[in-house]
Amino acid sequence: MEFTLKGTENLSEKDRYDFIKLFIKGQVRDENDPHALMGNISAIIMALVKDLNWVGFYMVKGDELVLGSFQGLPACTRLSRDKGVCAKAWRDKSPVKVDDVDAFDGHVACDSNSKSELVIPLIKNEKVYGVLDIDSPKLSRFTDEDKLAFTEIVELFQEKL
Ligand code: SME
Repeated sequence: MEFTLKGTENLSEKDRYDFIKLFIKGQVRDENDPHALMGNISAIIMALVKDLNWVGFYMVKGDELVLGSFQGLPACTRLSRDKGVCAKAWRDKSPVKVDDVDAFDGHVACDSNSKSELVIPLIKNEKVYGVLDIDSPKLSRFTDEDKLAFTEIVELFQEKL
């Protein structure tokens, strides 16, 4: 696979997400291994989405979330089910958007640069397999459009979980 970011510099927000979705559809068509897919999906998000300092996956193992593929600084390897933004998305089976992580009771700080956060659960057949966690160094970085776009992105590959 040859990949280039050439021509993506000035894409609109919508075209940027469409490009990411197209890339992920190609990956899902050609690859069945979930770890390989999640590695490239975290890389394409970090490369294309602006103002992020960390993006990656935490996967459900027993009563914890365990760090999976990611881009960014080293992070907490295990998160408990009862604390933090990722755990809330897991428990609620629903996306969680946090405008100011310092105002979120129980937020787990892995990278002190993170100021706002968006977490999307990975759900197949009603079961949560993990979460996609996206962190920004900017307050209120994520809009409802971002939440919808990432929910659609996750839907593209969750059949392969
Ligand atoms: N902030 C997350 C922990 C994961 S790091 O952001 C990479 C949380 O509160 O669950």
